[in-house]
Amino acid sequence: MKMQTDRDVYRRRRQNILKALVKHAHKRSVLILCAATEKVRNGDCEYPYRQDSDFWYLTGFHEPDAVLVLIPGRTEGQSLLFCRQRDKERELWDGHRAGPQGAVDDYGFDQAFAMEQLETLMPGLLRGCEALYYRPGSRTRFDMQMWRWLREAQQQQRKGMAPLPRIEDRDSFLHQYRMIKSEEELHIMRAAADISARGHVRAMRECSPGRMEYQLEASILHEFALHGARHPAYNSIVGGGENACVLHYTENKDQLKDGDLVLIDAGCELDHYAADITRTFPVNGRFTKNQRALYEVVLEAQQAAIACIAPGLPWDGFHKAAVQSLVEGLLRLGLLKGKPDQIIEEKLYRQFYMHGTGHWLGLDVHDVGVNWGDESPLLFEPGMTLTVEPGIYIASSNKDVDSCWHGMGIRIEDDVLVTQGGCEVMTKAAPKTVEEIEAVMAEGSP
Ligand code: GLY
Ligand code: MN
Ligand code: MN
Repeated sequence: MKMQTDRDVYRRRRQNILKALVKHAHKRSVLILCAATEKVRNGDCEYPYRQDSDFWYLTGFHEPDAVLVLIPGRTEGQSLLFCRQRDKERELWDGHRAGPQGAVDDYGFDQAFAMEQLETLMPGLLRGCEALYYRPGSRTRFDMQMWRWLREAQQQQRKGMAPLPRIEDRDSFLHQYRMIKSEEELHIMRAAADISARGHVRAMRECSPGRMEYQLEASILHEFALHGARHPAYNSIVGGGENACVLHYTENKDQLKDGDLVLIDAGCELDHYAADITRTFPVNGRFTKNQRALYEVVLEAQQAAIACIAPGLPWDGFHKAAVQSLVEGLLRLGLLKGKPDQIIEEKLYRQFYMHGTGHWLGLDVHDVGVNWGDESPLLFEPGMTLTVEPGIYIASSNKDVDSCWHGMGIRIEDDVLVTQGGCEVMTKAAPKTVEEIEAVMAEGSP
């Protein structure tokens, strides 16, 4: 039995979207969303099932083979679920299914039907629809069924040829709501942030020269699972020395060396919500002079970026602040030469910093929302959540700099919530200053 509160949260969310559909479409509209499919890994094994994020956002329903249909104003029910029927034999092997009755009782749908009824019921549900919120192109078989149902719906109207509905951009419509997190969502995201921070602390405590990158990864994943987050939100990166300069290094196969830094980018997924933390620290527990100098340039840039996150401020300001601060720091260390404005204008810093400063965070680690590249002047609003993750990467192939800087990849990444008064760093439990990191590492494992 699902908790009453959960059921109400998702029901309320669907009601909000139903109201918004009326406003947005000005017409008779239908929104259709499919659950994620199960994916075969090999042989008879599947990948762990992960519900589609949009589907989860509107249903809290974790089974595959389900279709959500929202029809504002429909008297028999506005929020419908098609799902798998109960099946004693299958449930013996694969576990409980809600079935249509459970979907109504435990998940709060107005009506629910077996998947087998899609074929007969969909044309009727689509009859008179003028604006269809559906994303063609992601499911070939379902797309073909949709065309057939739409044709049948047209024929059922017996008005000659009724026009086909306009196809609306369902995802852009839904994602503007997903961008602003509710208190329930933030509760989960803070917990995900805390668990992820624990993983990083444990890696710091257990790290020493000679350990393998995969052993730190194992400790982090163990810590996540111990606290109820069985899966990471993305493949963990544990890169010692030069490996940290490969931005998406996930092989995690090398031995950690005395005198190197190690970069760890790892976050858990809790109740479908992602955390995303990066910390960089010395394998032996003490920063060298150069490591510390470069680390503090990144830390300053991260703090400058976080200071630009508050309601009403433009979303692109935090990236600009990070770049400005990084360039000033790199000039101070003699790693760049010239005038800051020109370096920024000509993007000369990109040999050291070649990625953006952050992304939205939520049900997806790279969460939905207005694209960072979008032209419109988006302003931060309370409830938005994003990462702030500047870095500096100096691979030994970079012959423009003295070799004393080679093999250092530093990134510092936190998860930030825009609040009424400014912002909150949700991942603050992960040690970040040189002093904090060295103190935790000196304590070692309990
Ligand atoms: N861990 C993925 C990212 O930082 O974007
Ligand atoms: Mn990130
Ligand atoms: Mn990350």
